[in-house]
Amino acid sequence: MSNKKQIRVGLIGTGLMGRIHTNGYKRMEDFFPDYEYVPVLQACCSRREEKAKAFAEQWGYASYETDWRKVLERDDIDAVDICTPNDKHAEIAIAAAKAGKMILCEKPLARTVEEAEGMLKAVEEAGVKNTVWYNYRRIPAVTLAKNIVASGKLGKIFHYRANFLQDWTISPDLPQGGDALWRLDVAAAGSGVTGDLLAHCIDTAMWINGGIKDVSAMTETFIKERVHQGTGEKKAVGIDDACTFQCHFDNGSLGLFEATRYARGHKALYTFEINGEHASIRWDLHDLTRLEYFDHDDEGIVRGWRSIHVTDGDHPYMDRWWIPGTSIGYEHSFIHQVADFFHSLQTGEACHPTFRDAFETQKVCEAVINSANERAWKDTGVDWVEKV
Ligand SMILES: NC(=O)c1ccc[n+]([C@@H]2O[C@H](COP(=O)([O-])OP(=O)(O)OC[C@H]3O[C@@H](n4cnc5c(N)ncnc54)[C@H](O)[C@@H]3O)[C@@H](O)[C@H]2O)c1
Repeated sequence: MSNKKQIRVGLIGTGLMGRIHTNGYKRMEDFFPDYEYVPVLQACCSRREEKAKAFAEQWGYASYETDWRKVLERDDIDAVDICTPNDKHAEIAIAAAKAGKMILCEKPLARTVEEAEGMLKAVEEAGVKNTVWYNYRRIPAVTLAKNIVASGKLGKIFHYRANFLQDWTISPDLPQGGDALWRLDVAAAGSGVTGDLLAHCIDTAMWINGGIKDVSAMTETFIKERVHQGTGEKKAVGIDDACTFQCHFDNGSLGLFEATRYARGHKALYTFEINGEHASIRWDLHDLTRLEYFDHDDEGIVRGWRSIHVTDGDHPYMDRWWIPGTSIGYEHSFIHQVADFFHSLQTGEACHPTFRDAFETQKVCEAVINSANERAWKDTGVDWVEKV
């Protein structure tokens, strides 16, 4: 009989993230066997009974519910994982905090700063453990980028540049709202690419390069009206289809960010590049195990961009996986987040990004939207507390 401490998870929302988080819970113990706390798949929740039951059977949950409130009422649930569309995050998280549950919430934390603030207040008042699934931080090459910058190898940072490019909403026939297409409905999503894609870039950027002070943004909604799946009526599209913004970081560097769902040929091209006084770093989600690195201190005749294959045992997280030279992928960032969350229960430390960190990202997202709407520079009011 194992003497591990079991944390019984109630997962709400059984779509893409419901599956990928569950995969993380299932695989964590195999690869982090020395951790004291382990997840138990106690209950999943989906609104339709046949879907909830099928998910529980396929993925191995002990039970299922069709109303998220029931999950929160149960004494045999310790942690609630929120994998619903953005419009349900605040309501569920605030209720879960009041019920004394630990909370793992998907990103963006909320649709607005106001909602996010209510969520932050709720978890801090209740004193419940919390984290937000900005998972890209836990891709080993991205963690390595953070470590290299923190080591000072780049020297003074001048530029931070990030893109997140997709092409799946180009057709004007695509409806908005409802299952699978809630991201196009501003009431459900809060915003378009800003909250969906740029929020990731902003989280990574502030984690690596510190707080974003002010922003000047431009957004566009290329398709102005789409049929709503709920009503069958044509309705104005309220989301940003594309967004670019420039910004100042607290450390004096300049930022340039772009996200769109109209970059034909790109499915999920998340890239970032950081240029410092001595060295530069570049990363690309399509080649996620590699980190490109240029060091000006290299001897002139061999100086150039090197491509680090981030698979060695001394690279972040890689001592947990196979052998040097063999890769891991996207889903592992979620396994790492599960592992870090459970390890933080052991150490008593926060599992970043917490609701507080994600609240700061929410401020940048909102400042970006306001800046674009008002065609003006906006201060973000960010108070970045994580160490950089
Ligand atoms: N971390 C990441 O990289 C990442 C990637 C994709 C999505 N997300 C975030 O995860 C969340 C979910 O996105 P997704 O892609 O899994 O969406 P999805 O549409 O695949 O799944 C959402 C699920 O929630 C269910 N749902 C909606 N309302 C519900 C309710 N009241 N009670 C119970 N279930 C409900 C839907 O039926 C659906 O099964 C979003 O906040 C999104 O922004 C994060």
